[in-house]
Amino acid sequence: AEADFSPAVIIGTGYGAAVTALRLGAAGIPTVMLEMGQLWNTPGSDGKVFPNMLNPDKRAMWFKTRTEAPLASFLWLDLANRNIDPYAGVLDRVHFGDMSVYVGRGVGGGSLVNGAMAVVPKRSYFEQILPRVDADEMYGKYYPRANAGLGANSVDTTWFETCDSYQYARVSRKHAHNAGLATTFVPSVYDFDYMRREEANEVPRSALASEVIYGNNYGKRSLDKSYLAAALGTGNVTIRTLHEVRDIAQQPDGTYTLTVRQSDAEGNVLATKQLGAKYLFLGAGSLGSTELLVRARETGKLPELNDAVGQGWGTNGNVMLGRANHVWDAVGSLESGMPALGIDAWNDPKYPVFAEIAPVPAGIETWASLYLAITRNPERGYFTYDAASDSARLQWEISQGQPSIDAAKNLFDRINSANGTVYRYDLFGDTRAFENRFTYHPLGGLVLGEATDLYGRVKGYRNLYVMDGSLIPGSTGVNPFVTITALAERNVERILAEDVS
Ligand code: FDA
Repeated sequence: AEADFSPAVIIGTGYGAAVTALRLGAAGIPTVMLEMGQLWNTPGSDGKVFPNMLNPDKRAMWFKTRTEAPLASFLWLDLANRNIDPYAGVLDRVHFGDMSVYVGRGVGGGSLVNGAMAVVPKRSYFEQILPRVDADEMYGKYYPRANAGLGANSVDTTWFETCDSYQYARVSRKHAHNAGLATTFVPSVYDFDYMRREEANEVPRSALASEVIYGNNYGKRSLDKSYLAAALGTGNVTIRTLHEVRDIAQQPDGTYTLTVRQSDAEGNVLATKQLGAKYLFLGAGSLGSTELLVRARETGKLPELNDAVGQGWGTNGNVMLGRANHVWDAVGSLESGMPALGIDAWNDPKYPVFAEIAPVPAGIETWASLYLAITRNPERGYFTYDAASDSARLQWEISQGQPSIDAAKNLFDRINSANGTVYRYDLFGDTRAFENRFTYHPLGGLVLGEATDLYGRVKGYRNLYVMDGSLIPGSTGVNPFVTITALAERNVERILAEDVS
């Protein structure tokens, strides 16, 4: 195949990748982005780009024969999942033994499927997880820059108190307050003014039409509408979709050569191509970027990669649970799919928890309150290389999730006892109350200062950079995308100033 060359190549189109693309493009550097998923801008036969959670179809998931929703059951019945045709859909659930990881696939990565919560961690905790990053700079400059670029906004609290779509959050808030706990509003990249107009029936519904994890048709400022739109606007950035990077090698002149597999949306391989780059940026997410470098080290293509490649992976302490409410505490049949409130118990000395008050957008009264608890779980996993499948395998045991459950149980036992309520045992396919066999927040694998220097430069190689969630050592204490974005803003600024000519 004839060699194609670009000064800069970015792998992936999630948060770290999108920031990198905008800043390289604005600096006048021709840049190619390679994304294994699709561009989501074309309506299907139903007139919508994405399906909703009540009636998912093949667009929902990445090459599965049945959808795999996080709430496996309701009253022990598998009501949410549907058989589907294998297709390059928008949400993937990647299985590794005792842990599976949800990730977005498509132009915009996780921004297409996530809950849009734009949360800045407490500064004291940031200083613990990344002690060698200047927190003054992060909180004074890069977090504000990230929030501006992402389009974060806050709910109108007057509307919040009276609207139907956050009755579920108000009920959970009351129960938390009854236990003496604090709650806090969380900013979002979902346009709250659009949501208000949804409830008033002035615009087509999206957050109020059970659209969350399989994509959102209106109202969400996903990256394709923020950073990536701006990057394309520089005129220097192009995106190639359904292009999966399989291998990275270095030439004697120091440039990189990528082996890229181009497929169609049904999964048929159309071509295997080579693409050269002087500057190579990894933004394929914690799973994707870590796999590429673990594979490159173990197959001898990038033999100078150090032992930290593949280490320091965590779940951000994720654990999901539901509570059963009393009949007089209806949560309402209309639940906004985009959370706006969290229970902030992060200052608890033994069991810090930040719990997002999550929706059950089922379109009916559920008598349930759902939470995604973020806990401070010190356990870490790591990746090994499996030659037979040519893939990286996450090593994580179910027992490593126990600290997350202990912390969540401490908090929600208090809430239950203050309100005379109990857990729901019917939501996760069996009778467990706490689900931590999956995470929404994979972090680490290529930790800043370990696998890379303090700006994401891969140790052992020049002009090779990590820009995404794999830099963060397994925990952020809150939902992670603002931190991923801010860190990428910081790192790319330094790399442009010092490395790129
Ligand atoms: P990200 O995963 O976003 O992007 C990586 C991209 O690279 C993907 O598009 C992928 O297809 C592509 N890719 C991977 N390998 C490749 C290869 N070999 N070749 C080409 N392309 C490749 N966070 C938050 O802060 N607030 C929230 O409310 C939520 N809610 C939430 C809900 C759900 C359901 C999920 C799954 C996740 C969240 N998150 C979240 C987490 C958040 O979405 C996540 O942390 C970020 O998307 C991670 O950003 P990255 O830049 O690391 O990669």
